[in-house]
Amino acid sequence: MRQHKLALCKYHFLEWVCDQTERNINKYKLFTKNDRVLVAVSGGKDSLALWDVLNKLGYLTAGVYINLGILGNDLYSVKSQTLAEKFASDHNLVLHISNIKSEYGKTIPEFSETNKRGKSKPCSVCGLIKRHTMNDNASKLGYDVLVTGHNLDDEVSVLFNNVLGWQVDFLRRQAPFIPAKEGLIPKAKPFCRFYERETAAYAILANIEYMEDECPFSVGSTTIENKELLNQLEHQRAGTKLAFYLKFLKAKKDIFTDLENDMYTEELFPCPICGQPTPKPGYCTFCRMVTRS
Ligand code: AMP
Ligand code: FES
Ligand code: ZN
Repeated sequence: MRQHKLALCKYHFLEWVCDQTERNINKYKLFTKNDRVLVAVSGGKDSLALWDVLNKLGYLTAGVYINLGILGNDLYSVKSQTLAEKFASDHNLVLHISNIKSEYGKTIPEFSETNKRGKSKPCSVCGLIKRHTMNDNASKLGYDVLVTGHNLDDEVSVLFNNVLGWQVDFLRRQAPFIPAKEGLIPKAKPFCRFYERETAAYAILANIEYMEDECPFSVGSTTIENKELLNQLEHQRAGTKLAFYLKFLKAKKDIFTDLENDMYTEELFPCPICGQPTPKPGYCTFCRMVTRS
């Protein structure tokens, strides 16, 4: 690991990932051993590795898998659900399953065809539905916190995009921990300081079977383009991505001096259907999409 100037054997690498995760949980005050933690698992390496680490560390976890109805040549959603279920049963853990088609009437590709948000690619519709469904599951099932497997490369790619477009509100809310808000459960990203290749190495060394194929819609996405660009910078100067992210978290405290009070600047209103907050009185974007389709 060039960026950390560390060379570890398999045993010590697995231990290092667990120790660092515990450190991140404590440093960013993500949750405690008394909290009921819901892990959003996609069947991919990051979220399954995260579930494995949290389980080994003795946290009270269950998982939630959202079947998006994405098939493609490799039956993406079918295969990833099978892998999430296998991990849960091998480790004797509870996995909640949500199915977009049976709960809301359409798959992600079908929603995206009838929605202007998804005209070019379904990713934006997909992001909206996933965020809504994860929060809905976590609050209805009574969990204290929702955790996702976002890694450093994910965070840095989003940060880069937010800076390019000066998306001030998004920058304000980009953090390892997003506190609860009326209708929104707290969200945490315990893997936000791990490079993608570290979470992949963990999943392989811990013998986790995970979905190796990317979502068929991710080809040519901005996220992937940003990641390639940032990898070039990292290649020239090891540690660039970690420094970009950590210095951003530090600078945020000076830029947004009122962050302690609230992460949201705008007034929010509860959606009359689902109860999740929305910037304008009336149905939220998710409920408008589902009721219109
Ligand atoms: P992505 O948005 O695909 O980059 O995934 C980021 C994180 O969201 C993953 O690490 C998971 O924690 C969560 N996630 C993504 N897709 C799903 C899914 N289908 N079901 C549950 N959680 C998911
Ligand atoms: Fe949502 Fe690919 S996972 S569009
Ligand atoms: Zn709503």
